[in-house]
Amino acid sequence: MLPKIVDWNQSCLHILDQSLLPREEVQLKLRTPNEVSTAIKEMKIRGAPAIGIAAAYGLLLAAINSRDQEYAELINNLKFTYNDLMNTRPTAFNLKWALDRMMALAISTSSKDQIEHLLAKEARNIHKQTEESDIAISELGATLLQQGSKILTHCNTGALATGGQGTALGIIRKAWELGLVDHVIATETRPWLQGARLTAWELKRASIPFTIIVDSAAAHLMDVTQINCVIVGADRIASNGDTANKIGTRSLAILASESNIPFYVAAPSSTVDLSINHGHQIIVEDRPAEEVTSLNGISITPPDTHAFNPAFDITPHRYINAIVTDKGIALPPYEFSLTKLVHND
Ligand code: MRU
Repeated sequence: MLPKIVDWNQSCLHILDQSLLPREEVQLKLRTPNEVSTAIKEMKIRGAPAIGIAAAYGLLLAAINSRDQEYAELINNLKFTYNDLMNTRPTAFNLKWALDRMMALAISTSSKDQIEHLLAKEARNIHKQTEESDIAISELGATLLQQGSKILTHCNTGALATGGQGTALGIIRKAWELGLVDHVIATETRPWLQGARLTAWELKRASIPFTIIVDSAAAHLMDVTQINCVIVGADRIASNGDTANKIGTRSLAILASESNIPFYVAAPSSTVDLSINHGHQIIVEDRPAEEVTSLNGISITPPDTHAFNPAFDITPHRYINAIVTDKGIALPPYEFSLTKLVHND
């Protein structure tokens, strides 16, 4: 059993601090919206779906902490928190999806007493919906795999990233239960090491056989070993299927295409941003240079070395063989299949 990744209990948001894994399993109790936005920025909770859930509870905390205020002041506090949370990790579409749902409800009533009740209910709905979509994604995605599969995955897309059972890693877990998985190759995922720290932690607990590689070993591995498919998650998917995901995803997709290896993206429909036509409209988050120039707080470069640290890249839709969502598997051309799936409520 995994410890609780994200949980609402006694008017507080409880999260497992992912920045400390796998060395320490520390639960944090977040009582204010500012604590939630700081935890998201500092990657104590990360992964697009989990960020969406945390942000929804963050807005609920703003309502709870404004109980004694007048209606206008309460709405101002909610708007301030909405903007603050929205700016934490700008690439993750689930963040906007969750915050927009919460804010639309908050302003749908002029009864101050109703707001907290509505927000509590909606945050729980968002949490539950994310858990349910993971189950659907895992079951649908497993149908794409054959017995004896060797699967390459990037970053962490498991329970830690969603609060449910995961997207890409949820598929791998389901396929393992069905006896379809031979071995998992997980990239270490520089600079945050979500693969080496978090995916390895989850796979080990599930007793799924795996090997960690440095990100730059993927091309060689595809050359010398049989990899049956690559499965990754997504932070935002444009309506044409272009996908923003953890930095390094684009290289894996190009490599997979060169080696004729199917490349699958798995994400809830809440990650699909139908308001944009292509991936270059997606804002890619830039993270601090120190994440690249140091390891565990120890500098590894000469002083004042400049580093470029984009958290995500954009994989063009032409490299993606299928997009597995909770509402079905979208196949190219995605501008038709994704829109149809997302609108199929
Ligand atoms: O920077 P992170 O760790 O939040 O990035 C996570 C990813 O890129 C995941 O692949 C994505 O959010 C999907 S998680 C189900």
